[in-house]
Amino acid sequence: MPKTHFAKLKTLDRRLTHGEDMILRLKERLGKRFEEEVQFFKGWQKDKKGVGALIPTSIYAARRMASVVNPRSGLPVLELGAGTGVITKAILARGIKPHLLVSIEYSRNFYNGLVRRFPNVDVRLGDAFALDEVLGERKIDQFDCVISAVPLLSFPMDRRVVLVEDLLTRIPPGRPVIQITYGPLSPVIKMPDRYEASHYDFVVRNIPPAQLWTYRRAV
Ligand SMILES: C[S@@+](CC[C@H](N)C(=O)[O-])C[C@H]1O[C@@H](n2cnc3c(N)ncnc32)[C@H](O)[C@@H]1O
Repeated sequence: MPKTHFAKLKTLDRRLTHGEDMILRLKERLGKRFEEEVQFFKGWQKDKKGVGALIPTSIYAARRMASVVNPRSGLPVLELGAGTGVITKAILARGIKPHLLVSIEYSRNFYNGLVRRFPNVDVRLGDAFALDEVLGERKIDQFDCVISAVPLLSFPMDRRVVLVEDLLTRIPPGRPVIQITYGPLSPVIKMPDRYEASHYDFVVRNIPPAQLWTYRRAV
């Protein structure tokens, strides 16, 4: 066979191998995503109100939520309702060291998955509405901000307000609690004399499309 043909065949072979590698990697990624979605769906079947959504938060919504993190503050970040860890991953991608992220999850199944997936994150099993108990020795910590996916609409309004006001005592004035929700209005009633509630974003690339709200104390 002429040398040029041989060289062309080798290039083609390399390309095919590269293509196979890509397909394998893609299959692996989709497989992982599919596993997470199945895990999430099972969680939802067990506790519809507690899980609050049919499929995990999209990476687009997760990234928008994580965009409020200030990695230069040196303070830990508090995440509530970590579920399958989509938002956890987006927070880490902001440059937060795993030991500076405290992620709280109520469901034991999701908790077990999070511990496996993020062995160096401070993942805690417990109720976001009983933070002192869940945080234990870390209850005195000041956090940079709070990223919450707890399905607030499943809880009565007075409990939502108590939660947000509790969270605001754990972060510096002016820093945000960011909350994902699927309703058209702020999931926590506006009380300008106590905290500022602002619409942060509407993320269409999420199922269902998501609204992001922030809550802050005056500086
Ligand atoms: C809408 S899901 C979002 C999860 C995550 N963003 C994801 O995509 O996998 C809400 C999560 O909040 C958790 N959750 C519900 N009530 C909670 C509570 N009181 N404290 C902590 N987590 C809670 C649920 O178990 C669920 O994992």
